[in-house]
Amino acid sequence: MAISKLGVLGAGAMGAGIAQISAQAGLKVVLVDIDQKFVDRGLQTMNKNWEKDASKGKITQEDKERFLGNIQTSLDKSALKDCELVIEAIIENIDIKKQAFRELGEICSPSTVLATNTSGLSITEIGAASGRPDRVVGMHFFNPVPVMRLVEVIPGEETTEETVELAMEVSRIIGKTPIRAKEAPGFIVNRLLVPYLNDAAHAYQEGVASAEDIDLAMKLGANMPIGPLALCDLVGIDVLLMVVEHFYKEFGDPKFRPALALKQKVRAGHFGVKTGKGFFDYTKK
Ligand code: 3HC
Repeated sequence: MAISKLGVLGAGAMGAGIAQISAQAGLKVVLVDIDQKFVDRGLQTMNKNWEKDASKGKITQEDKERFLGNIQTSLDKSALKDCELVIEAIIENIDIKKQAFRELGEICSPSTVLATNTSGLSITEIGAASGRPDRVVGMHFFNPVPVMRLVEVIPGEETTEETVELAMEVSRIIGKTPIRAKEAPGFIVNRLLVPYLNDAAHAYQEGVASAEDIDLAMKLGANMPIGPLALCDLVGIDVLLMVVEHFYKEFGDPKFRPALALKQKVRAGHFGVKTGKGFFDYTKK
Protein backbone atom coordinates (compact mmCIF):
# COMPACT_ATOMS: atom_id res chain seq x y z
CA MET A 1 0.00 0.00 0.00
CA ALA A 2 1.34 3.45 -0.95
CA ILE A 3 0.26 5.01 2.33
CA SER A 4 -1.32 3.98 5.61
CA LYS A 5 -2.40 7.31 7.11
CA LEU A 6 -4.34 9.90 5.16
CA GLY A 7 -5.26 13.37 6.35
CA VAL A 8 -8.37 15.21 5.19
CA LEU A 9 -8.68 18.92 5.87
CA GLY A 10 -12.33 20.03 5.69
CA ALA A 11 -15.30 17.88 6.74
CA GLY A 12 -17.84 19.31 4.30
CA ALA A 13 -19.55 17.28 1.57
CA MET A 14 -16.29 16.62 -0.32
CA GLY A 15 -14.02 16.11 2.70
CA ALA A 16 -16.48 13.78 4.41
CA GLY A 17 -16.85 11.80 1.17
CA ILE A 18 -13.07 11.45 0.79
CA ALA A 19 -12.73 10.42 4.46
CA GLN A 20 -15.55 7.88 4.03
CA ILE A 21 -14.12 6.06 1.02
CA SER A 22 -10.60 6.13 2.48
CA ALA A 23 -11.77 4.60 5.76
CA GLN A 24 -13.67 1.97 3.75
CA ALA A 25 -10.45 1.15 1.88
CA GLY A 26 -8.71 0.42 5.20
CA LEU A 27 -6.66 3.59 5.53
CA LYS A 28 -6.29 5.35 8.87
CA VAL A 29 -7.91 8.74 8.36
CA VAL A 30 -7.38 11.97 10.29
CA LEU A 31 -10.26 14.36 9.59
CA VAL A 32 -9.73 17.99 10.61
CA ASP A 33 -12.02 21.01 10.51
CA ILE A 34 -12.15 24.33 12.37
CA ASP A 35 -15.39 23.74 14.24
CA GLN A 36 -16.76 20.64 15.99
CA LYS A 37 -20.16 21.17 14.36
CA PHE A 38 -18.60 20.70 10.88
CA VAL A 39 -16.80 17.55 12.06
CA ASP A 40 -20.04 16.19 13.54
CA ARG A 41 -21.97 16.92 10.36
CA GLY A 42 -19.31 15.10 8.31
CA LEU A 43 -19.46 12.07 10.61
CA GLN A 44 -23.26 12.09 10.42
CA THR A 45 -23.14 12.03 6.60
CA MET A 46 -20.78 9.05 6.64
CA ASN A 47 -22.86 7.28 9.22
CA LYS A 48 -26.02 7.81 7.16
CA ASN A 49 -24.33 6.43 4.04
CA TRP A 50 -23.05 3.36 5.91
CA GLU A 51 -26.46 2.77 7.50
CA LYS A 52 -27.97 2.88 3.99
CA ASP A 53 -25.35 0.43 2.69
CA ALA A 54 -25.98 -1.85 5.69
CA SER A 55 -29.74 -1.79 5.11
CA LYS A 56 -29.11 -2.86 1.49
CA GLY A 57 -26.90 -5.71 2.73
CA LYS A 58 -23.81 -4.24 1.03
CA ILE A 59 -21.90 -4.03 4.33
CA THR A 60 -22.40 -5.43 7.84
CA GLN A 61 -22.71 -3.51 11.12
CA GLU A 62 -19.20 -4.81 11.96
CA ASP A 63 -17.86 -3.28 8.72
CA LYS A 64 -19.49 0.00 9.67
CA GLU A 65 -17.85 -0.04 13.11
CA ARG A 66 -14.49 -0.91 11.54
CA PHE A 67 -14.75 1.98 9.04
CA LEU A 68 -15.68 4.38 11.83
CA GLY A 69 -12.77 3.07 13.91
CA ASN A 70 -10.40 4.07 11.09
CA ILE A 71 -11.37 7.72 11.51
CA GLN A 72 -9.80 10.07 14.02
CA THR A 73 -11.04 13.67 14.17
CA SER A 74 -9.45 16.88 15.38
CA LEU A 75 -9.88 20.65 15.34
CA ASP A 76 -6.11 21.09 15.22
CA LYS A 77 -4.12 20.85 11.97
CA SER A 78 -1.11 19.50 13.88
CA ALA A 79 -2.98 16.17 14.08
CA LEU A 80 -2.06 15.88 10.37
CA LYS A 81 1.67 16.09 10.90
CA ASP A 82 2.59 12.45 10.37
CA CYS A 83 0.15 11.67 7.54
CA GLU A 84 1.83 10.55 4.32
CA LEU A 85 -0.79 12.41 2.27
CA VAL A 86 -3.13 15.24 3.27
CA ILE A 87 -6.05 16.11 0.99
CA GLU A 88 -7.43 19.61 1.47
CA ALA A 89 -11.14 20.11 0.79
CA ILE A 90 -11.95 23.51 2.29
CA ILE A 91 -13.65 26.56 0.81
CA GLU A 92 -12.88 27.41 -2.84
CA ASN A 93 -11.06 30.66 -2.10
CA ILE A 94 -7.45 31.12 -3.18
CA ASP A 95 -6.38 33.22 -0.18
CA ILE A 96 -7.87 30.83 2.37
CA LYS A 97 -6.37 27.81 0.58
CA LYS A 98 -2.94 29.46 0.42
CA GLN A 99 -3.07 30.21 4.14
CA ALA A 100 -4.03 26.58 4.87
CA PHE A 101 -1.14 25.28 2.72
CA ARG A 102 1.28 27.69 4.40
CA GLU A 103 0.28 26.17 7.76
CA LEU A 104 0.33 22.59 6.46
CA GLY A 105 3.81 23.20 5.00
CA GLU A 106 5.05 24.21 8.43
CA ILE A 107 3.22 21.51 10.41
CA CYS A 108 3.58 18.38 8.29
CA SER A 109 6.58 16.11 8.04
CA PRO A 110 8.88 17.14 5.13
CA SER A 111 7.92 13.97 3.26
CA THR A 112 4.13 14.56 3.48
CA VAL A 113 2.46 15.12 0.13
CA LEU A 114 -0.21 17.83 0.17
CA ALA A 115 -3.12 17.57 -2.27
CA THR A 116 -5.85 20.07 -2.99
CA ASN A 117 -9.36 19.20 -4.09
CA THR A 118 -9.71 22.59 -5.77
CA SER A 119 -12.30 22.71 -8.56
CA GLY A 120 -9.99 24.75 -10.76
CA LEU A 121 -7.73 27.17 -8.87
CA SER A 122 -4.01 27.15 -9.66
CA ILE A 123 -2.11 24.20 -8.14
CA THR A 124 1.14 26.11 -8.77
CA GLU A 125 -0.04 29.10 -6.73
CA ILE A 126 -1.27 26.88 -3.89
CA GLY A 127 1.97 24.85 -4.03
CA ALA A 128 4.13 27.99 -3.85
CA ALA A 129 2.40 29.01 -0.60
CA SER A 130 3.22 25.64 0.99
CA GLY A 131 7.00 25.99 0.75
CA ARG A 132 7.12 22.45 -0.78
CA PRO A 133 5.73 22.93 -4.32
CA ASP A 134 7.37 19.68 -5.47
CA ARG A 135 5.08 17.75 -3.09
CA VAL A 136 1.82 19.56 -3.89
CA VAL A 137 -0.68 18.15 -6.39
CA GLY A 138 -4.33 18.55 -7.36
CA MET A 139 -6.68 15.65 -6.58
CA HIS A 140 -10.09 16.71 -7.81
CA PHE A 141 -13.02 14.55 -6.66
CA PHE A 142 -16.65 14.77 -7.76
CA ASN A 143 -19.86 15.11 -5.83
CA PRO A 144 -21.19 12.78 -4.41
CA VAL A 145 -17.72 11.38 -3.71
CA PRO A 146 -18.81 7.84 -2.72
CA VAL A 147 -20.58 7.44 -6.10
CA MET A 148 -18.53 9.34 -8.67
CA ARG A 149 -15.68 7.23 -10.01
CA LEU A 150 -13.21 9.85 -11.25
CA VAL A 151 -10.30 11.72 -9.71
CA GLU A 152 -8.49 14.32 -11.83
CA VAL A 153 -4.81 14.43 -10.83
CA ILE A 154 -3.17 17.75 -11.68
CA PRO A 155 0.53 18.52 -11.33
CA GLY A 156 1.57 22.13 -10.74
CA GLU A 157 4.64 23.75 -12.29
CA GLU A 158 7.07 22.13 -9.82
CA THR A 159 5.25 18.92 -8.84
CA THR A 160 7.51 15.89 -9.12
CA GLU A 161 6.58 12.73 -10.99
CA GLU A 162 6.83 10.82 -7.71
CA THR A 163 4.14 13.08 -6.17
CA VAL A 164 1.84 12.58 -9.17
CA GLU A 165 2.35 8.81 -8.97
CA LEU A 166 1.43 8.79 -5.27
CA ALA A 167 -1.79 10.71 -5.99
CA MET A 168 -2.65 8.28 -8.82
CA GLU A 169 -1.89 5.26 -6.62
CA VAL A 170 -3.91 6.52 -3.63
CA SER A 171 -6.85 7.33 -5.93
CA ARG A 172 -6.84 3.70 -7.08
CA ILE A 173 -6.51 2.39 -3.50
CA ILE A 174 -9.65 4.30 -2.51
CA GLY A 175 -11.55 2.88 -5.45
CA LYS A 176 -11.36 5.69 -8.02
CA THR A 177 -10.10 5.94 -11.57
CA PRO A 178 -7.48 8.68 -11.78
CA ILE A 179 -6.72 10.64 -14.93
CA ARG A 180 -4.00 13.18 -15.35
CA ALA A 181 -4.93 16.69 -16.45
CA LYS A 182 -2.87 19.78 -17.21
CA GLU A 183 -3.19 22.77 -14.96
CA ALA A 184 -5.78 24.93 -16.72
CA PRO A 185 -8.96 26.52 -15.35
CA GLY A 186 -11.49 23.79 -14.59
CA PHE A 187 -9.14 21.00 -15.74
CA ILE A 188 -11.32 18.67 -17.88
CA VAL A 189 -14.68 17.99 -16.25
CA ASN A 190 -15.46 21.47 -14.94
CA ARG A 191 -14.14 23.11 -18.13
CA LEU A 192 -16.94 21.32 -19.97
CA LEU A 193 -19.57 20.93 -17.23
CA VAL A 194 -19.58 24.38 -15.62
CA PRO A 195 -20.42 26.36 -18.81
CA TYR A 196 -23.32 23.93 -19.34
CA LEU A 197 -24.64 24.53 -15.82
CA ASN A 198 -24.16 28.31 -16.18
CA ASP A 199 -26.02 28.20 -19.52
CA ALA A 200 -28.90 26.34 -17.89
CA ALA A 201 -29.09 29.14 -15.30
CA HIS A 202 -29.06 31.75 -18.12
CA ALA A 203 -31.89 29.85 -19.86
CA TYR A 204 -33.86 29.81 -16.60
CA GLN A 205 -33.23 33.54 -16.08
CA GLU A 206 -34.42 34.29 -19.62
CA GLY A 207 -37.61 32.31 -18.98
CA VAL A 208 -36.93 29.75 -21.72
CA ALA A 209 -38.82 27.22 -19.56
CA SER A 210 -39.49 26.48 -15.89
CA ALA A 211 -36.73 24.94 -13.75
CA GLU A 212 -38.63 21.64 -13.80
CA ASP A 213 -38.93 21.64 -17.60
CA ILE A 214 -35.30 22.65 -18.23
CA ASP A 215 -34.24 19.66 -16.12
CA LEU A 216 -36.78 17.30 -17.64
CA ALA A 217 -35.66 18.36 -21.12
CA MET A 218 -32.03 17.41 -20.45
CA LYS A 219 -32.96 14.16 -18.72
CA LEU A 220 -35.36 12.96 -21.39
CA GLY A 221 -33.79 14.68 -24.40
CA ALA A 222 -30.10 14.15 -23.67
CA ASN A 223 -30.19 11.22 -21.22
CA MET A 224 -28.50 13.18 -18.42
CA PRO A 225 -28.76 11.31 -15.09
CA ILE A 226 -29.86 14.52 -13.40
CA GLY A 227 -31.07 17.89 -14.76
CA PRO A 228 -28.59 20.80 -14.88
CA LEU A 229 -30.41 22.96 -12.32
CA ALA A 230 -30.68 20.06 -9.86
CA LEU A 231 -26.96 19.50 -10.47
CA CYS A 232 -26.29 23.20 -9.64
CA ASP A 233 -28.12 22.54 -6.36
CA LEU A 234 -26.10 19.38 -5.71
CA VAL A 235 -22.72 20.98 -6.45
CA GLY A 236 -23.67 24.08 -4.43
CA ILE A 237 -24.61 27.31 -6.21
CA ASP A 238 -22.07 29.22 -4.07
CA VAL A 239 -19.27 26.89 -5.23
CA LEU A 240 -20.48 27.00 -8.82
CA LEU A 241 -20.62 30.80 -8.90
CA MET A 242 -17.05 31.01 -7.57
CA VAL A 243 -15.90 28.65 -10.33
CA VAL A 244 -17.76 30.53 -13.09
CA GLU A 245 -16.36 33.86 -11.86
CA HIS A 246 -12.87 32.36 -11.85
CA PHE A 247 -13.34 31.12 -15.44
CA TYR A 248 -14.65 34.53 -16.55
CA LYS A 249 -11.56 36.22 -15.09
CA GLU A 250 -9.03 33.63 -16.32
CA PHE A 251 -10.33 33.15 -19.86
CA GLY A 252 -11.59 36.73 -20.35
CA ASP A 253 -14.25 35.26 -22.61
CA PRO A 254 -17.87 36.53 -22.41
CA LYS A 255 -19.14 32.97 -22.82
CA PHE A 256 -18.27 32.47 -19.13
CA ARG A 257 -20.36 35.48 -17.96
CA PRO A 258 -22.00 34.30 -14.69
CA ALA A 259 -25.79 33.97 -14.93
CA LEU A 260 -27.73 36.48 -12.84
CA ALA A 261 -29.85 33.60 -11.52
CA LEU A 262 -26.74 32.12 -9.84
CA LYS A 263 -25.86 35.48 -8.26
CA GLN A 264 -29.40 36.01 -7.02
CA LYS A 265 -29.59 32.58 -5.39
CA VAL A 266 -26.27 33.17 -3.64
CA ARG A 267 -27.36 36.65 -2.49
CA ALA A 268 -30.49 35.06 -1.02
CA GLY A 269 -28.43 32.38 0.76
CA HIS A 270 -30.06 29.66 -1.36
CA PHE A 271 -27.03 27.53 -2.18
CA GLY A 272 -28.94 24.35 -3.10
CA VAL A 273 -29.28 21.01 -1.31
CA LYS A 274 -27.00 22.02 1.58
CA THR A 275 -29.15 25.04 2.56
CA GLY A 276 -32.45 23.36 1.73
CA LYS A 277 -33.23 25.66 -1.20
CA GLY A 278 -31.72 26.46 -4.57
CA PHE A 279 -33.44 26.14 -7.93
CA PHE A 280 -35.58 23.56 -6.13
CA ASP A 281 -36.92 23.25 -2.60
CA TYR A 282 -35.51 20.40 -0.48
CA THR A 283 -37.16 21.38 2.79
CA LYS A 284 -40.30 19.37 2.09
CA LYS A 285 -38.55 16.03 1.40
N1 3HC B 1 -23.80 9.92 -1.08
C1 3HC B 1 -23.61 8.59 -1.18
N2 3HC B 1 -24.30 7.80 -2.04
C2 3HC B 1 -25.24 8.39 -2.81
C3 3HC B 1 -25.49 9.78 -2.76
C4 3HC B 1 -24.74 10.55 -1.82
N3 3HC B 1 -24.90 11.87 -1.70
N4 3HC B 1 -26.48 10.08 -3.65
C5 3HC B 1 -26.81 8.92 -4.23
N5 3HC B 1 -26.07 7.90 -3.75
C6 3HC B 1 -26.12 6.49 -4.14
C7 3HC B 1 -27.44 5.87 -3.74
O1 3HC B 1 -27.38 5.38 -2.43
C8 3HC B 1 -27.58 4.76 -4.76
O2 3HC B 1 -26.76 3.67 -4.36
P1 3HC B 1 -27.11 2.14 -4.77
O3 3HC B 1 -26.79 2.03 -6.22
O4 3HC B 1 -26.20 1.36 -3.89
O5 3HC B 1 -28.56 1.94 -4.45
C9 3HC B 1 -26.94 5.35 -6.04
O6 3HC B 1 -26.09 6.43 -5.58
C10 3HC B 1 -28.00 5.92 -6.98
O7 3HC B 1 -28.76 6.87 -6.27
P2 3HC B 1 -30.32 7.14 -6.46
O8 3HC B 1 -30.94 5.92 -7.06
O9 3HC B 1 -30.87 7.67 -5.19
O10 3HC B 1 -30.43 8.39 -7.44
P3 3HC B 1 -29.89 8.59 -8.90
O11 3HC B 1 -30.02 7.39 -9.74
O12 3HC B 1 -30.50 9.88 -9.34
O13 3HC B 1 -28.33 8.84 -8.72
C11 3HC B 1 -26.59 10.41 -8.64
C12 3HC B 1 -27.83 9.86 -7.95
C13 3HC B 1 -25.52 9.31 -8.74
C14 3HC B 1 -26.06 11.55 -7.76
C15 3HC B 1 -26.98 10.89 -10.07
O14 3HC B 1 -28.01 11.82 -9.95
C16 3HC B 1 -25.83 11.51 -10.82
O15 3HC B 1 -25.00 10.84 -11.40
N6 3HC B 1 -25.80 12.83 -10.86
C17 3HC B 1 -24.73 13.59 -11.50
C18 3HC B 1 -23.64 13.84 -10.52
C19 3HC B 1 -22.54 14.67 -11.12
O16 3HC B 1 -22.50 15.03 -12.27
N7 3HC B 1 -21.55 15.01 -10.27
C20 3HC B 1 -20.44 15.84 -10.65
C21 3HC B 1 -20.68 17.22 -10.20
S1 3HC B 1 -19.35 18.30 -10.62
C22 3HC B 1 -18.32 18.24 -9.30
O17 3HC B 1 -18.58 17.63 -8.31
C23 3HC B 1 -17.05 19.00 -9.43
C24 3HC B 1 -16.97 20.19 -8.54
O18 3HC B 1 -15.67 20.68 -8.60
C25 3HC B 1 -17.94 21.30 -8.91
